[in-house]
Amino acid sequence: MCGIVAYIGTKPARPLLIEGLKRLEYRGYDSAGLAIMNGGLHCARAVGRVSVLENKVDQLGGFDGSLGIAHTRWATHGSVTEANAHPHRDDKSGIAIVHNGIIENYASVRTLLTEKGHRFTSETDTEVLAMLIGELYDPANGFDLERTVQSALREVTGAYAIAVVCEHEPDTLVVARKGSPLMVGIGSGEYIVASDPSAIVAHTTQAFPLDDYNVVKLSRDGFRTSTVDNLPITPKVTQLELELEEIELGGYEHYMRKEIFEQPNALRNCFRGRLDHKEGKVVLGGLQAYAPQLVRSRRIILTAQGTALHAAMIGEYLLEELAKIPSEVEYASEFRYRNPIIEDGTVVVAVSQSGETADTLAALHEAKDRGALALGVINAVGSTISRETHAGVYLRVGPEIGVASTKAFTGQVAVLTMMTLFLARRRFMSTEASARLMIELDAIPEKMDRVLEQDAFIKSVTEKYIHRENWLFLGRGYNYPTAMEGALKLKEISYIHAEGMPAAEMKHGPIALIDEGMPVVFIANKGPQYDKVMSNIEEVRSRGGHVIAVATEGDQAIKHVAEDVLYVPEVADPLSPLLTVVPLQLMAYHAAVLRGHDVDKPRNLAKSVTVE
Ligand code: M6R
Repeated sequence: MCGIVAYIGTKPARPLLIEGLKRLEYRGYDSAGLAIMNGGLHCARAVGRVSVLENKVDQLGGFDGSLGIAHTRWATHGSVTEANAHPHRDDKSGIAIVHNGIIENYASVRTLLTEKGHRFTSETDTEVLAMLIGELYDPANGFDLERTVQSALREVTGAYAIAVVCEHEPDTLVVARKGSPLMVGIGSGEYIVASDPSAIVAHTTQAFPLDDYNVVKLSRDGFRTSTVDNLPITPKVTQLELELEEIELGGYEHYMRKEIFEQPNALRNCFRGRLDHKEGKVVLGGLQAYAPQLVRSRRIILTAQGTALHAAMIGEYLLEELAKIPSEVEYASEFRYRNPIIEDGTVVVAVSQSGETADTLAALHEAKDRGALALGVINAVGSTISRETHAGVYLRVGPEIGVASTKAFTGQVAVLTMMTLFLARRRFMSTEASARLMIELDAIPEKMDRVLEQDAFIKSVTEKYIHRENWLFLGRGYNYPTAMEGALKLKEISYIHAEGMPAAEMKHGPIALIDEGMPVVFIANKGPQYDKVMSNIEEVRSRGGHVIAVATEGDQAIKHVAEDVLYVPEVADPLSPLLTVVPLQLMAYHAAVLRGHDVDKPRNLAKSVTVE
């Protein structure tokens, strides 16, 4: 959602904060702001991209200190205006604050503060927190900035990652977290705090994440970590594994395109050391300790949102067909609030690229509270969900920056396939059957390369339909979730209305939408349901729809019924989404570019959704 970066050290804070904000811009980009201590607080905010803020700060001048806080916003409370942008300030004690998350009881706190005479200038919950800290600040009675932040946070409910400065303590930065990610990077004589390691890694690789209810007071001489109740704690300093090149565009025009093309190598990394062909076994170190319990599990619930949910849907099919474990998928946001049944032997798997999605995190807490064994299928190393699950498997596909998830999807499907084989082989699957699928899995990256080679052709097909405002995506079996993913990709970056569904569902209503020339994308690979899909294609054709088929190499029959055919190499049906999704990702990418949209920063969206 929003991004936070803060700095205290000896270098000029301004370029460092601006550079950090640019790296975090993918988390939210409707407005941005910063405050720098320089004989008092200098504050600037701007609607629009970080570059607008950068120009404004350059023109204003005076932002020359070495302590500052900065923010890039994705609006939750209040519209996109300069007044609602962060930092927010109080009207009494020289406080400035940047905040990610939502203060849920902000309305009642605001009423109390208004009665005390405070005057608000924004519609945000964050300004309420700034005023509350300002109201409680009383250094003469022991309430310095650190103690005051602790007190204020005990009064609020909801989620927060905050960075706070005070004009009366020009050498102190206080940061805290509950529910929204935040980490402290440790440099030499300097600290960089950020909501995401990508804003830290250019400066240091030593860092520690804050846990919920942690407060850190930072000065140039050191730091102190405590809870909101002021109990001292010792942070776990670790090495950030992120490489700077991984978060750079590296010659690509957009992160989304880069990440689509990274998929073959990303999957090679994902598989490395995990496929033991000789034994026909998948080796997943993160699950090993729980293997006996997992093998005996009676039900698996996969929970996620968005693209991760589509991957989880494929996981459900894999687990039931190959590992023979009853499985189901549930939106994390629904699971959390509907009193789910967790019995003995229920395993809950949270699937998330960022490991920070608030809905998925809340579902995980619910599952753990009800006694489930909780696993994670996560990309971001050290993220909150990865730390809070009992065990799990990392995707190892590298950081994903593009808001539209691509390589994380294939990584999630790949990991869920390996988890399935890990269990299936220990249950009923023969060494030979498992080894056969592992060989196929290993061959996926090379086959993906062949799909990517068709990029220019896929662009030319997309171009033909670019003025169409309604698309359908249809598939069956393992490729029903792929159809949903294709539709999600198209709508989120090109703003074309698209729906994805099981191909057979079309005739139960959506068929009414089909008119002359409507693009209907069929995933018609050579699988067990190929003939049925062909019948559905005929239903579309006879109503004037234009069929774009994703089909298996060598299929000539499909050419007679589809206007356009995008071929993928032959592959075992359970693994087919790993290939069939790639042309859909490229179609969505080209549609967005052809329509002139900012692919990496689609409107109203943010990379990581850290509010429920
Ligand atoms: O970080 P997560 O995988 O938990 O994110 C879940 C969804 O917010 C995410 O997949 C979203 O749907 C993407 N924008 C899809 O491209």
